[in-house]
Amino acid sequence: MKKLRLLFTISFAAIVALFIVVSDGINNRIAAQTEYAGRTLVMVTSADYPPYEFRDTAAGNEIIGFDVDIANYIAQELEFELKIQDTDFSGIIPALQSQRADFAMAGMTPTEERRQNVDFSDIYYEAKNTIVALNGSNLQQPEDLAGKRVGVQLGSTQETAAKEFKGVTIVPLNRTGEIIQEVKSKRIDAAIIEDTIAAGFIANNPDLEFNTIENTGEAGSAIAFSRGSPLVADFNRVLQQMQSSGEIDRLVNKWFGGEPETTATASDSTFSFVRIAPSIPFILRGILVTLQFTALSAILGFIWGTILSLFKISTFKPLVWFATAYTSIFRGTPLLLQIALVYYATPQITGYNIPALLAGVITFTLNSGAYISETIRGGILAVDKGQREAALSLGVPYRPMMLDIILPQAIKNILPALVNESIALLKDSALVSTIGVADLLRRAQIVGAERYIYFEPLIVAGVIYYLMVMSLTWGGYALERRLQRSS
Ligand code: ARG
Repeated sequence: MKKLRLLFTISFAAIVALFIVVSDGINNRIAAQTEYAGRTLVMVTSADYPPYEFRDTAAGNEIIGFDVDIANYIAQELEFELKIQDTDFSGIIPALQSQRADFAMAGMTPTEERRQNVDFSDIYYEAKNTIVALNGSNLQQPEDLAGKRVGVQLGSTQETAAKEFKGVTIVPLNRTGEIIQEVKSKRIDAAIIEDTIAAGFIANNPDLEFNTIENTGEAGSAIAFSRGSPLVADFNRVLQQMQSSGEIDRLVNKWFGGEPETTATASDSTFSFVRIAPSIPFILRGILVTLQFTALSAILGFIWGTILSLFKISTFKPLVWFATAYTSIFRGTPLLLQIALVYYATPQITGYNIPALLAGVITFTLNSGAYISETIRGGILAVDKGQREAALSLGVPYRPMMLDIILPQAIKNILPALVNESIALLKDSALVSTIGVADLLRRAQIVGAERYIYFEPLIVAGVIYYLMVMSLTWGGYALERRLQRSS
């Protein structure tokens, strides 16, 4: 059948594309830890923390900020190439442990607990914690927070600090922008945020205020390295030199001195899309990433699902057992968990530094294969038994019978279900944003962090997702009608 052949051609193309992604990743090999002069060192950060690190989405997609300037200075002194990788704050230590990055700068405070997992440089900057709350809420000191819900960044020293405050309910969230948004929508009463960060958020959100509190426990930012990294001494040497030459002071002044930048205006209403207008092209470019990802996973998932479904109807029992157990595991655990496992465990187990996009494609293929296999199995069983018997009695062997007679009919019948599965994939693809793939959702979040607002970029992303799903639905209908006609 022509259609099936076409399908396989497309699949083949998809596999070739996948290999390109993989080989790209091989160049990405884990950095050896010595003789870094002239080499590329990877720095991991969480670019949600202006002015330490954030994205300049209107001008390309660069990560800029206080930490980035320091890293660039060190790179110049030690003569290595600097490559910056973005992740959630709680993903930074795992990235160092799995050797995915050589060092981390993220306004990160050296704490006792972290020291058991990573090494730190000397402290290069001290900041103070503040309580951020709605204007007039009069939450000035930790004592005032008793009985309140308080937002903090997951895995941050602010979370540890808040645990010391009596009677507080802690709400840990992933990105700083989310925390601020929760305060604004009154779902939490306050947030604990560093002064340097808080200043920017306050300037951009006139309905908020902040009060500085005394540091309890650890404070200050340092550079983190994987345990036993030979880089520490050299980095410390450069940091010292930057302190004594006044370079650090100059950068502190550049990023923390003066009034924080604001895009807010007095006429701001609840929504102001104007504030994110310059960054919309940046969000739009996420469409390609999302589509590429969805297409690859859908095609590979379909192939894998077909194979699994054939296993399931096979008469060879071990194949049936394998396919059934497989499906049960992949349907029985959350997709988000599977992504995190593939992404973080692969380097640790195999030593291969799997790129985020590839980890996403693999997980989605494995996962949607499990679902699709059930759909296809149902489709095959629904094809009239007589066809099978007729084919067998005419002496058609198993393979051509399956490929040319049974599968094409099965697929035609389950087309709506397959379109459904692709739609689910398209939307679930947003989960790859958690491992740092710059897809549509991730880009919207990045813009939110940079512009200090939250809703507007998400609404833009939501509209785009909806339009994409609609096109997919119509495409599915059209295909269905054509198949119906050609039968
Ligand atoms: N200083 C705090 C800590 O070490 C917060 C740092 C958060 N950094 C970030 N890039 N989001 O836990």
